[in-house]
Amino acid sequence: MWVYIKNLKDYIGKEVELRGWVWRSRSSGKIAFINMRDGTGIVQVVVEASSVDEETFKNARKLRMESSLIVRGTVKSEERAPGGVEIHAKEVIPVQIPTEDFPINKPDHSIDYLMEHRHLWLRSRRQMHILNIRDAVLRAIRKFYWENDFVQVDTPIFTGAIGESAGNLFEIDYFDYGKVYLAQTGQLYLEAACMALGRVFNLGPTFRAEKSKTRRHLIEFWMNEAEVAYFEHEDNLKLQENLVSYIVKYVLENAREHLEALNRDISKLEKIEPPFPRITYTEAVKMLQKKGYDIEWGDDFGGDEETEIAKQFDKPVFVTHYPRKAKAFYMQPDPDNPDVVLCDDLIAPEGYGEIIGASQRIHDYDLLVERLKEFNLPVESYDWYLDLRKFGSVPHSGFGLGVERTIAWIAGLEHIREAIPFPRTLYRVHP
Ligand code: 4AD
Ligand code: MG
Repeated sequence: MWVYIKNLKDYIGKEVELRGWVWRSRSSGKIAFINMRDGTGIVQVVVEASSVDEETFKNARKLRMESSLIVRGTVKSEERAPGGVEIHAKEVIPVQIPTEDFPINKPDHSIDYLMEHRHLWLRSRRQMHILNIRDAVLRAIRKFYWENDFVQVDTPIFTGAIGESAGNLFEIDYFDYGKVYLAQTGQLYLEAACMALGRVFNLGPTFRAEKSKTRRHLIEFWMNEAEVAYFEHEDNLKLQENLVSYIVKYVLENAREHLEALNRDISKLEKIEPPFPRITYTEAVKMLQKKGYDIEWGDDFGGDEETEIAKQFDKPVFVTHYPRKAKAFYMQPDPDNPDVVLCDDLIAPEGYGEIIGASQRIHDYDLLVERLKEFNLPVESYDWYLDLRKFGSVPHSGFGLGVERTIAWIAGLEHIREAIPFPRTLYRVHP
């Protein structure tokens, strides 16, 4: 019976079939050891010349790194082995044996080399653990919304209106229509959908032609956005801290072994629960100035400033009420001070930067038109978006969570490029 390695402990004493690849192997005249992987784990296969036929033993000795193979044998409990079991082989059937050395075979390949071989690098244990954590994060996100009465609404990738800012758009030639853009955000479409369905979310790729080559930026990254009709700023903050706490808890419960394998300091993640601390933008600027940062009220924060703010807390921190001019056109002004908007950035602990951008949205028609003009955006391409303010407009709020930044934080990755299977960065779209 075909069994996956992670389930072997349920088959002690039984005969099983494994299908996978050689991770490492060594042999002498009488015995061969094959460390075999199948995507779910690694197990040692013992092939003894005295207990298999000649053909099988010859086959076992021919295998090299990343040969594909099928093994049939008995599961034995072995306390010293990782996973507590090993396989005593009866049959070893090579599927394909490489004719050259596997390119990823040293501990010290350069990052450029590894990125060039990303399609093979994915087979390493570290990448296997990271991709499992990514999978858990994506599952947690959907589960959270479905448990909280949200409807998933998939937003388009080709968009006619600028969703966020004009600075970093990918332009595409779209038949007779002319110029359209790859989505920077699905927010505008979720705003339409929340007026139809109340609570909505999306989860998908977004694109930004950002010339920044930092450990926090990708050109193509996944975003999870939520939008809720009748939600105001305060409701929005609560939703965000509940979501982020849920994701961390879910990963701790369902992918803990992968965090441990990466040596993640789990005690830091165990502290993540609501409520999260909050400071206003203005307070943050004062704090940074006191620490000697060269920053003025009105400037946006860069990575270093975010890290400094995060250092003061052991949970993610909300920075709220940014200056209107530092943020996007759609944000609702604070009724107590129209120079700032009802928004927040959620900054992750340990220097992982902004993981959420959020705000209450302008629901007044005239104010929205005024803002579109103030930001030099073409009002005519927002006709449908303005309609939402003409037909039963209500206060509403939402946010976007950067999926790879969240994964990088939870998994403790130094660079965001490992948080996505095939990263698109400033200098790389291959493979
Ligand atoms: O703060 P941003 O730009 O917000 C929006 O796009 C809103 N329209 C979302 C909304 O309210 N529905 O982006 C949201 C998050 C950021 O906080 C960050 O985590 C992530 O997306 N992000 C990036 N992640 C990786 N690489 C990049 N280049 C990113 N740009 C933003
Ligand atoms: Mg932002």
